[in-house]
Amino acid sequence: MLRVRSMLFVGLWGTLVGGVACGSARESAPGATAPPAVEEVAPEEPATGAAAEAPAGPVVDDAFGGRLYDRFYDGERFSPDRASTPGTADGSGGPLGNGTLLLADGSALLNDAGHDYRLKNFFGWDLRGAQGIYGAAYQDKATVVERNLLDPAFELEEIRVLIRDGSDVVPGYGTVLDELELESLLAFIGGVREGRLPHPDRIWSLSEGTPGNYRLAPGGDAARGKQLYADRCAGCHGKDGTRFLFDEGAYSLGSHARQKAYEDWLKILNGHPFSKMKRFVRGANGEELGQEVLDLLAALCDRTEFPLGAASKPDVEEGDPRCGAYLR
Ligand code: HEC
Repeated sequence: MLRVRSMLFVGLWGTLVGGVACGSARESAPGATAPPAVEEVAPEEPATGAAAEAPAGPVVDDAFGGRLYDRFYDGERFSPDRASTPGTADGSGGPLGNGTLLLADGSALLNDAGHDYRLKNFFGWDLRGAQGIYGAAYQDKATVVERNLLDPAFELEEIRVLIRDGSDVVPGYGTVLDELELESLLAFIGGVREGRLPHPDRIWSLSEGTPGNYRLAPGGDAARGKQLYADRCAGCHGKDGTRFLFDEGAYSLGSHARQKAYEDWLKILNGHPFSKMKRFVRGANGEELGQEVLDLLAALCDRTEFPLGAASKPDVEEGDPRCGAYLR
């Protein structure tokens, strides 16, 4: 983790944190990734409020950056313009106070396309924009933009400017994220580009015309993943991943991972925004972190160990290509 050297950040941070929320509810420092002991952990509801997400000090944190990439706001500091009311700006927060962000030319970008201003909706869960999982060849999402953040021809410095100031299709985040948040976001994107964090290809590959449009990568060790799960995840998610369900009861943890690992790789790598779910995988570099994520996802492909529970959406069928050989 990089310490921010300039004292400017300390002052800035104090001001900003003081401005958005009371500090008392703040969680432990990012990077304190020691998993909670099983017996100490009650079933956790996601915490709310900016204070739940903010790191406890002036440190650039790529896991925090990854969660900002997923969703940078909760309902308090910013509530996006509603997609269900096209043509009107009816959110709250942001530079105009109405839940919109601005394009590079200063005009407000409405949420009519349903991107909700989440970077993952513009660039996909794999950061590859139109060349990735949300692109036309794969899941074909209307909100995806051309730019591939993992394209080496696209300098990190250009990405910094794009994220801060926006373009003609992507809004600028410089009006809603402070310096430390922007740097954390850049540390996440740079980490994936430079190998400090796993590249999505390390964990799954794009697959045209098959369910979900991806396949888990070979080389995962499901037995090791099962042990990792018991040690680091079961305390919250329950022994079999059914303690709480996702997407309004549609998925258990297992059935979600068997159908949406292109999304869960990022959640497991960085945590889930504004919740107790942080980065619980460990490793000195992208290779080691990626191996833990892949091992966990391989383990979660076992339908007996990680069943549907009370989830409403049916599980994958025999032979489903997403888990491939890991499916049990
Ligand atoms: C401290 C408690 C805690 C621990 C430990 C924990 N999680 Fe979570 N996890 C959560 C919470 C809370 C959520 C968010 C639930 C919500 O808001 O939908 C979550 C969300 C997730 C999601 C996102 C699912 C979705 O549909 O968005 C995945 C995947 C996940 N956890 C996997 C894991 C794995 C794998 C581990 C172990 C490496 C782990 N979790 C450890 C609490 C925890």
